[in-house]
Amino acid sequence: MSQKVRGVVARGRGEPVVIETVVVPDPGPGEAVVMVQACGVCHTDLHYRDGAISDDFPFLLGHEAAGVVESVGDGVTNVVPGDYVVLAWRAPCGICRSCLRGRPWYCFDSANAAQPMTLEDGTALSPALGIGAFAEKTLVAAGQAVRIDPMARPEAAGLIGCGVMAGFGSAVYTGAVRLGDTVAVFGCGGVGDAAIAGAAIAGARTIIAVDLDDRKLEWARRFGATDVVNAGRVDPVEAVRELTGGFGADVVIEAVGRPETYRQAFFARDLAGTLVQVGVPDPSMRIELAMIDLFGRGGALKSSWYGDCLPSRDFPILINLYLSGRLDLDGFVTETIGMGEVEGAFARMQKGEVLRSVVTLEDQA
Ligand SMILES: NC(=O)c1ccc[n+]([C@@H]2O[C@H](COP(=O)([O-])OP(=O)(O)OC[C@H]3O[C@@H](n4cnc5c(N)ncnc54)[C@H](O)[C@@H]3O)[C@@H](O)[C@H]2O)c1
Ligand SMILES: [Zn+2]
Ligand SMILES: [Zn+2]
Repeated sequence: MSQKVRGVVARGRGEPVVIETVVVPDPGPGEAVVMVQACGVCHTDLHYRDGAISDDFPFLLGHEAAGVVESVGDGVTNVVPGDYVVLAWRAPCGICRSCLRGRPWYCFDSANAAQPMTLEDGTALSPALGIGAFAEKTLVAAGQAVRIDPMARPEAAGLIGCGVMAGFGSAVYTGAVRLGDTVAVFGCGGVGDAAIAGAAIAGARTIIAVDLDDRKLEWARRFGATDVVNAGRVDPVEAVRELTGGFGADVVIEAVGRPETYRQAFFARDLAGTLVQVGVPDPSMRIELAMIDLFGRGGALKSSWYGDCLPSRDFPILINLYLSGRLDLDGFVTETIGMGEVEGAFARMQKGEVLRSVVTLEDQA
């Protein structure tokens, strides 16, 4: 028997999101239905609503979620009903060409639920990042549900499902920040601040936070930024160079997703330094660079998909860091809101008023 629940749907490009009735099928083989307790609002949800990711409307938004497994389909062995989980948008298949090359963190055929969730008229929904968790319940591939310590409250824990993991991993895995490195992070939203936290845990000597908003820069200090630069007031490339002995940073992380910040990040690197792009650009964006700069500055230009994480390995690590007081997940939760306030949360995100608004759903456990 399928179930009807409420969920937040983006019906068309740029249109305000609406609450709709969502039909959630019973889990088939390899699937699980999860009762969502909390789900963070990520900038990627806004990209979906604006049609910047794809045109597969209607989308069921939300993808930074913690909850409890309600039921599982045949053949599921990693979770049982009652398990407390964080949902991942990567569940490595183990057999694609990337998994076979020993690089499951890039898995090209990550598992999602095989059955669609639909609107009441049968229209199939595209769940954001294969999750769709601004909903009372959601259907996922069981491999997307990663068990974590129930001591971690859902509002904080859910955030490791996307932005925090992506940012943290962009520093420690993609950027491979090492003890004593200098690091600069462009864009201090949830993703950028998690990169700052990751760089701090990895032992970076200098961590420079760059943003246009002083409030964001203050928050960045709480996660470990040693210096802050307001790019609206000073040239951030010059500022990063000055703060790194005139050289530029060893690792620069771009967590905005815009050509101008990519360019600044590119030139804020030391020679042979690493640039990590974790911000997601709009398909229309272009960047022009002299080839001699690409060659002459050397180093590595990398993209970070989900911080190159392996959720089943890394979610428990991040939760352990949280519960032992070394990763301030609570610091990312600016406010908790109801399902009807997602559109307002997008506006506050754009105004820079929040790191994360978290949708909470009551009486679900
Ligand atoms: N690669 C991944 O796997 C992954 C995962 C999650 C999110 N993302 C992407 O990461 C990006 C950041 O996400 P978020 O949720 O932190 O968004 P956010 O909106 O909370 O943060 C963006 C920050 O960038 C700042 N900013 C904007 N323009 C700037 C400029 N010119 N110079 C300096 N700072 C500037 C804003 O003030 C804000 O603090 C988004 O593009 C999102 O889609 C990527
Ligand atoms: Zn794979
Ligand atoms: Zn996200």
